[in-house]
Amino acid sequence: MNVLLIGSGGREHALAWYLAQSDGCRELFCAPGNPGTAQCAETVALGADNLDGIVRFAREKSIDLVVIGPEGPLVAGLADRLAEAGIAAFGPSAAAARLEGSKAFMKDFCTRHNIPTAAYGRFTDAAGAEAFIRKNGAPVVVKADGLAAGKGVVIAQSVDEAIAAMRDMLSGNAFGAAGHEVVIEEFLDGEELSFFAIADGKTVVPLTSAQDHKRAGEGDTGPNTGGMGAYSPAHLMTEGLGRQIEETIINPAIAGMRAEGAPFSGILFAGVMVVNGRAVLLEFNTRFGDPECQAILSRLDCDLLALLHAAATGRLAEIKDGIFWRDETALCVVMAAKGYPGAYARGSVIRGIDRADHCEGVKVFHAGTALDGAGEVAADGGRVLGVTATGKDVAEARERAYRGVDAIDWPEGFCRRDIGWRALAPRSEKRS
Ligand code: AMP
Ligand code: GLY
Repeated sequence: MNVLLIGSGGREHALAWYLAQSDGCRELFCAPGNPGTAQCAETVALGADNLDGIVRFAREKSIDLVVIGPEGPLVAGLADRLAEAGIAAFGPSAAAARLEGSKAFMKDFCTRHNIPTAAYGRFTDAAGAEAFIRKNGAPVVVKADGLAAGKGVVIAQSVDEAIAAMRDMLSGNAFGAAGHEVVIEEFLDGEELSFFAIADGKTVVPLTSAQDHKRAGEGDTGPNTGGMGAYSPAHLMTEGLGRQIEETIINPAIAGMRAEGAPFSGILFAGVMVVNGRAVLLEFNTRFGDPECQAILSRLDCDLLALLHAAATGRLAEIKDGIFWRDETALCVVMAAKGYPGAYARGSVIRGIDRADHCEGVKVFHAGTALDGAGEVAADGGRVLGVTATGKDVAEARERAYRGVDAIDWPEGFCRRDIGWRALAPRSEKRS
């Protein structure tokens, strides 16, 4: 198969790395890619938002499968455009990607299909939102309806803070059009995990779990980011909890989207809060997480291309018994440019990636990197590298990942040193 991968982050480097190892992969292209994907795929100078260009390229190169990494082109309808052109695509239609693209749609959908989520109200007017906030009190969660790169959620500790955040969103100051509507939500106190399933519109197969560290600071403090590290499987995960998530969240969502005329194919990624043993849905994403993907794919023990192609072509039922996982933990530490998620500088040179790649069990995935004028790898984004390692348990995977981190010479970067801490903390230190 000729395969075109869309995106340029760490998730896409991981996808490219494993797709390139698939038996059925003839030519692999990545648009727009990064210096990491360039080691395993041919780079195509097309932005992920250039839908016309992508469809044209896929036709010209007789692409058999387009794998869409990020949410932007999914919500914009890239999978629909490819379907019209008769090209198979891995990733949901725009209508199905509303599960991620509109929190208001997602919440109402959950109500219609009895999927457990936090109690909520949705508002386009500040007066209605303010009355709702005052009635329910704090803490309370304020969310922009649309896509906001993981930053559209404010957990307000006071009514005043919630009202200020809500006004900032509705005025368009905070997130532009993505904030034209807000969802105000009950605050849930528990521990989070991410659950991934793959679907082809009708059949859905659970994949695995992960836990992400969204905050910039150690101990899960400080501002929210796109994700500073992740490990898989999540320590909270049990067979019973997995079954509960499938039965109460994943299966009803796939059946519900089908019943509503927007069958879901691709990755359904449920962000779940476990509250006293009960799984409550925080959000759906309609793609692999970044950096969860880097950890998850490191454990996948089957042909990735065959899996994604089966999902894209409605044949998951045929291959679902052939999906296996290595009995290992994988852990990804994100190295970011100092200042991220605030302002940061680009262009600093990074050395030692090869050295890190030679550490036992380690693979470094590029995210925000570029080659500078001298051909050296330099920082070109906020989240820059994902140093990923596998091991027999979280402790070993973590030790190996940080050995990889320490082999990298990049004074202008930083990382959290505590990825996976919840899995390693004594019970008494764990939050419920
Ligand atoms: P979301 O993008 O909806 O997953 O929200 C980002 C993060 O905000 C989540 O990963 C949670 O840590 C937190 N969060 C979102 N909704 C809630 C909620 N209702 N209660 C508590 N925390 C939440
Ligand atoms: N790491 C969280 C996400 O990809 O949405």
